[in-house]
Amino acid sequence: MWMEAHIYAPFLKLATGAFLAFISLTFIRRRWLSSISDIPGPFLGSFSVIWQILHAIKGHTEEETIAEHRKHGDFVRIGYNEVSVGHPDAIAEVLKSQMNKGDWYRIFSLPDSRYVNLMSEVDAKRHIAKTKNVTPGYAFSNVIKAEGYIDGVLRLFEERLDSLCEAHSPVNFDEWFNFLAFDIMGEVTFSKQFGFIDQGRDIGDAIANTRALGIYVAIMGHFWWAHDYLLANPLIGYFNLQPTMHIFDTALAAVDSRSKNDQVRKDMIEEWMNVRKKHPERMEEKEILAAAVANIGAGADTVSATLQALFYNLLRNEEAFMTLRGEVDNAHLADVPTHEETQKLPFLQACIKEALRIHTPVANGLPRVVPKGGVTVLGRHFEEGVILSVNPWVIHRRREVFGADADLFSPARWMDPARSREMEKSLIAFGAGYGQCPGKHLAQMELSKTTAMLIRDYDIKQVDKGKSWRFETHFTAVPYGWPCYVTRRRKQ
Ligand code: HEM
Repeated sequence: MWMEAHIYAPFLKLATGAFLAFISLTFIRRRWLSSISDIPGPFLGSFSVIWQILHAIKGHTEEETIAEHRKHGDFVRIGYNEVSVGHPDAIAEVLKSQMNKGDWYRIFSLPDSRYVNLMSEVDAKRHIAKTKNVTPGYAFSNVIKAEGYIDGVLRLFEERLDSLCEAHSPVNFDEWFNFLAFDIMGEVTFSKQFGFIDQGRDIGDAIANTRALGIYVAIMGHFWWAHDYLLANPLIGYFNLQPTMHIFDTALAAVDSRSKNDQVRKDMIEEWMNVRKKHPERMEEKEILAAAVANIGAGADTVSATLQALFYNLLRNEEAFMTLRGEVDNAHLADVPTHEETQKLPFLQACIKEALRIHTPVANGLPRVVPKGGVTVLGRHFEEGVILSVNPWVIHRRREVFGADADLFSPARWMDPARSREMEKSLIAFGAGYGQCPGKHLAQMELSKTTAMLIRDYDIKQVDKGKSWRFETHFTAVPYGWPCYVTRRRKQ
């Protein structure tokens, strides 16, 4: 035994030496010899992606990125090959350019790697072609056709709130806004709710698991090549091991049943199927399921996070709450306020913009890859392959754009039309350029109708009066568990 160890010892020493040399050389090359070595930033970011992973796990990437920009200026090196650009001009120079999206987005191919959707398509040209296929489903003229069905979901939502009210049970808005956003998404995408509101519970822990999935995405996006062996492995789907299987199962069943039933309404799937019928050469069938899944991944958590941020901040800002209530009461809105009515309420719209600004659901930077030949951004040249990311949180806290009180929730800042138009140029909660959110019309409709209806119909009080909840932003920014008592104020 001793002899054997003796024989292997030199090899072990050699291997350890080679490994240490490799690590040291990688460290030196990344930290001092890279084309972005002169850009300041956190130490861990100068040679690795550890800084990003650490803060994704801790849940405050956005706060840390803002702090780094306030310390160092417009450029911060947040990864060995990634620079966060914090100036509003980056919206035009980075996001509105046609640079490919960073590989990080590949992680969004779910349920498995065969389903490349808009979010996970990183090639700008292919992405733009795919967008053309799905645009009809997201157009306002299509989304508005679903308004009656959204009203149905909102009525059911109020019925459940009324039951909780009568039972004097607290309402966990972090859960209930999720139930609402998921069920609306199912209704609009494939005419089928997931049943979260109906059952008043997180079926199969699907929603709780989307939070774990958020952390997975934020971390594994850096190691996207391993995604195919992990969650995007078709075997995971085959053996029903996806943590959010109820959501995928419902989507799969809804899309599948469509092929057997032509008595369907014009939901998003139907729009996409029509595109495929007209242009079978440019859209594969699996793209339809991929787009449905992308909707659920991108369009439920985000709406829920915005509603949470809005109500959470309104409960802490009595003046804004009462102004909004006054506006909504005086408008004599329909039972379920119509989208058209809500667009005529300037303070409501100001509150929504402010919630999107101060607690933007997406907490990560939006990464783009410098193409062949390099690019010049804010007057500085970047070499091919460098990742430039723009974090909406950083832009949204620029004091020269949004005012000295940019860190505070203050809807009134949007009430002056000229100032509002100017600030809107830097409001990028929905992204910008070819990768921007196609679901923003639907999101606007959901946010406007839900907020107007709840503010008019209920008094809402936090159970732990005045207690603050820290927002967690592993992926989408949400405060966890802030129970409230609701009492009905408007008679049905
Ligand atoms: C308040 C609600 C929402 C916010 C703040 C939001 C925000 C965003 C952002 C920041 C992006 C990424 C942009 C980028 O990578 O450059 C995005 C992409 C996307 N969103 Fe939304 N979103 C919301 C609601 C929705 C809804 C309701 C849907 C579905 C109807 C949706 C579907 C998508 C899709 C499919 C993408 C991928 C687009 C692409 O890469 O081309 N989103 N969203």
